[in-house]
Amino acid sequence: MTTYNLTVFPGDGIGPEIVDQGLRVLEWVEEAYGVKFDIHTDLLGGISYDTHGLPLTEAALAKAQASDAVLMGSVGGPKWDGKTDYDKRPEQGLLNLRKGLNVFANLRPAYCFDALADASSLKKELVAGLDMLIVRELAGGVYFGEPRGINTLEDGTREGINTQRYHESEISRIARVGFEMAQKRGGRLVSAEKSNVMESGLLWREVVTAVATDYPDVELSHMLADNCAMQIVRAPKQFDVIVTDNLFGDLLSDEAAMLTGSLGMLPSASLSDEGPGLYEPIHGSAPDIAGQDLANPIATILSFAMALRYSLNLGDAATAIEHAVSVTLDQGYRTADIMSEGMKSVGTKAMGDALLAALRS
Ligand code: NAD
Ligand code: IPM
Ligand code: MN
Repeated sequence: MTTYNLTVFPGDGIGPEIVDQGLRVLEWVEEAYGVKFDIHTDLLGGISYDTHGLPLTEAALAKAQASDAVLMGSVGGPKWDGKTDYDKRPEQGLLNLRKGLNVFANLRPAYCFDALADASSLKKELVAGLDMLIVRELAGGVYFGEPRGINTLEDGTREGINTQRYHESEISRIARVGFEMAQKRGGRLVSAEKSNVMESGLLWREVVTAVATDYPDVELSHMLADNCAMQIVRAPKQFDVIVTDNLFGDLLSDEAAMLTGSLGMLPSASLSDEGPGLYEPIHGSAPDIAGQDLANPIATILSFAMALRYSLNLGDAATAIEHAVSVTLDQGYRTADIMSEGMKSVGTKAMGDALLAALRS
């Protein structure tokens, strides 16, 4: 029997609740596909800080690096905001994990399930049938650029510094992921940057244009990122694949999540050239609803499905899970974030129950 080694970081806030539902789905995969998941749970984020004084220990990172795929919930929360050294905050643990796994390619698919076309804050006709993919650069840019920090100047006033830096090799490797994804999908790629005000954006545009010569079958266009943000809510179905930097990708993917009905619907896969991928929902730890059985587990479950597809060679199982999500939504099951009149209101665990029933039927 094939055995896969998984490191799981439930994290903080709603993390443990949504990860529990994801793990139930993986148990179904074990039964249905005759595989075994060797699951090692470890600490990441605030819970790791509380236990070890660090948001990610070297041992936990080493364990993650040695696994076949890394699954996580979410990190952070008011308990740690402003109460830990900045470099020890929960979010830094996640950034260290991404950097330590060298997962530079973050795939964030925004797919509108038919049953949720009226759950979006946009008009139904704008989002029905939507299927777009944001390819976000995840290991560079202003998240990691030096110099950074808060300096106190001679006159006693302070300045905050972050630096957007992109080497052309970092741009070309993420551009290639964008082109390859477009080749497998609708053949169209939009590259979003701010080449009108940022040199890093100008270089981004030049490098993406040069890489395009290797992908003559993909139609490339360039869009300034502010216009792109507007176009995503004006006419989202114009997009197939968007490739963009770390910060713009963060913003544009939260925006795109609302096209699907809720932040609780959007999964992600973060991939490196070699080594395990990292799979996490794009949303955060939702402290406002944590511990109340209210969180939507679907983004997490779809993220784990992406792990099956991209890291574990179990694409059929991933497709089955995505289909079960669609069936469950068609049956009317809704967590609070996607609830509408006449639907069946369920909590986190009951949504997991409904999904498992759909998988078993
Ligand atoms: P958030 O994504 O946690 O929540 C934003 C809103 O969306 C909240 O109203 C929340 O209740 C709702 N929401 C999010 N996920 C949901 C789900 N699965 N089901 C139903 N509703 C959901 O963003 P925030 O409030 O800005 O951040 C909270 C904390 O999470 C912060 O500490 C932030 O740094 C952290 N964060 C972590 C990650 C991550 O771990 N990948 C991502 C984003 C934010
Ligand atoms: C995300 C989150 C993270 C990011 C934070 C928590 C570090 O917002 O995964 O989208 O900014 O990348
Ligand atoms: Mn984000």
